[in-house]
Amino acid sequence: MMLSDFPLWPEQASTIARHTDALYITLTIVCGAVSVLIFTAIFVLSIIYRRRPDNQLAQEEEAPKALEATWIIIPFIFFMATFVWGSWLYFRIARVPDNALDIYATGKQWMWKFQHPTGQREINELHVPVNRPVRITMASEDVIHSLFFPAFRVKMDVLPSRYRMMWFQATRVGRYHIFCAEYCGTLHSGMTGWVDVMEATDYQKWLAGGSEGSLASQGQALFQKYACNTCHTEDATGRGPVLLGLYGSTVTLSNNATLVADDNYIRESILNPQAKIVKGFGPIMPTFQGQVNEDDLLKLLAYVRSLSAPRAGTLPKEPK
Ligand code: CUA
Repeated sequence: MMLSDFPLWPEQASTIARHTDALYITLTIVCGAVSVLIFTAIFVLSIIYRRRPDNQLAQEEEAPKALEATWIIIPFIFFMATFVWGSWLYFRIARVPDNALDIYATGKQWMWKFQHPTGQREINELHVPVNRPVRITMASEDVIHSLFFPAFRVKMDVLPSRYRMMWFQATRVGRYHIFCAEYCGTLHSGMTGWVDVMEATDYQKWLAGGSEGSLASQGQALFQKYACNTCHTEDATGRGPVLLGLYGSTVTLSNNATLVADDNYIRESILNPQAKIVKGFGPIMPTFQGQVNEDDLLKLLAYVRSLSAPRAGTLPKEPK
């Protein structure tokens, strides 16, 4: 039996998978080696220096300076190296490439729902093209879930209160597991699915299948259904701020604070419009909390994003 047949790790199917594994394996080997060294030393030294009748009291002796310096410097170099290595990998995982394909995900007891920008919707199944960065914007409809793609080595908590973002670039065509990695109730263990990594041409063919119009256009329909367009007009004559070019731009609030209009700002402005009032506007917008579900919120977000193409490459802020 080959070592590769022994399924210690899931397949490496993304650009970062082998980097994550390399760091993980290095840390495991080093920790294992140091543990063996320590336990061997305890065992051997306790025999060598056991109490003897003719040598009842230990003599105090100062450790050689060179020895002390060695056991400070070597671990220091090792810790700094793993710190730099880990940070490099962290930033690589945190920074979403600008040309990423947008997918929207909703976690719900107990299923995963995915929406594509072109409007296709899937449950517990996600189709993505190979060799292309995919950015997933996600939120939960109820409790905290965690979207986990073991083969891509990416995992992130999905929260009920805000959007979070995660990305991966699949490197191999195939079918890989999706798991929920946060205990979320009775059927947590059944909250699984499959991601289908396809050749770009197959993905295009798949996209050509049934859809109810692009996600942004479905968002636009909702925008009209909820009569948002009566205040948010396309010129500055409306009672609400113009949304054209808003996403990714800097907004000045009534208290003169500024912020960048990102996903979570858009979300909050729909669910809790009084939280941040744009300078020059009154607090007149009603809340849509409880009226718009997560799927529809993502459609509205896709619509607001589409009003500002090309997308600003903002870094997701992820306090944890
Ligand atoms: Cu959803 Cu565990």
